[in-house]
Amino acid sequence: MKIIALLGAPGSGKGTQAKKLSQSGICFHLSTGDTLRGAIKDGTEIGLRAKTLMDRGELVPDSVMIEMVECCLGTLPDSMSVLLDGFPRTVPQAKALDLRLRTTVHLAVYFKMHEQDLVLRLTGRQTCERCGEPYHISFVPPLKQDLCDRCGGNLIQRSDDMEAVVRQRLRVFATQNEALLSYYEKTKRLIEVDAGLPVATLQSNLQRMLSEWLT
Ligand code: AP5
Repeated sequence: MKIIALLGAPGSGKGTQAKKLSQSGICFHLSTGDTLRGAIKDGTEIGLRAKTLMDRGELVPDSVMIEMVECCLGTLPDSMSVLLDGFPRTVPQAKALDLRLRTTVHLAVYFKMHEQDLVLRLTGRQTCERCGEPYHISFVPPLKQDLCDRCGGNLIQRSDDMEAVVRQRLRVFATQNEALLSYYEKTKRLIEVDAGLPVATLQSNLQRMLSEWLT
């Protein structure tokens, strides 16, 4: 199994790009945020515990996340290439992927972006409540207001995209990021992309860059 991890701050565009790359059929998209939101919707025990932390902008404990990713990866065939979106976020999670899980990250792609632009992206984000497609009121508007272009579902604001929670998520990100990047840099698995580029430009850059890793 080939694994590429997308690293970067909340709002840097990991989900947007991972969805586009997986829609083009070159890989499977595994988002830990989407998996947790699914668990909340289903009312599972993990979902209920995670919701309180997510609404406060805090991370869910490493042990819970490692088990969740281990379980998801275990359902996929070995021949599959996977884009991990939102995991790992801490060095213990990165180490778990390398040591405990049955696979290792081949490449970590860091979505680099200025903090002031991240707040604007997240507070203006709308997400389809049916298929999860992300939009932005100014940068990526839907064709019809408040409706998803892909499935016609209603567009909603995520509860953790309120400005106060966004700022806390960014603070939490800043406490983990340097150590995580250095973990992958030391083992020569880290590349950086300019996440401030327009969606389509970044998508074609990534597609070109990743196709040699994924094929
Ligand atoms: P998660 O859902 O993973 O949130 P996140 O990492 O905070 O990332 P986001 O989804 O907010 O941002 P993104 O980078 O995907 O940006 P997007 O493409 O949507 O996690 C949520 C919570 O779950 C965490 O806070 C934590 O509590 C918990 N959790 C999850 N994983 C965990 C883990 N491993 N360990 C512990 N806890 C965990 O884009 C953002 C906006 O910008 C959109 O409006 C989009 O349309 C727009 N946009 C995107 N690209 C561009 C562009 N190039 N130009 C202009 N606008 C753009």
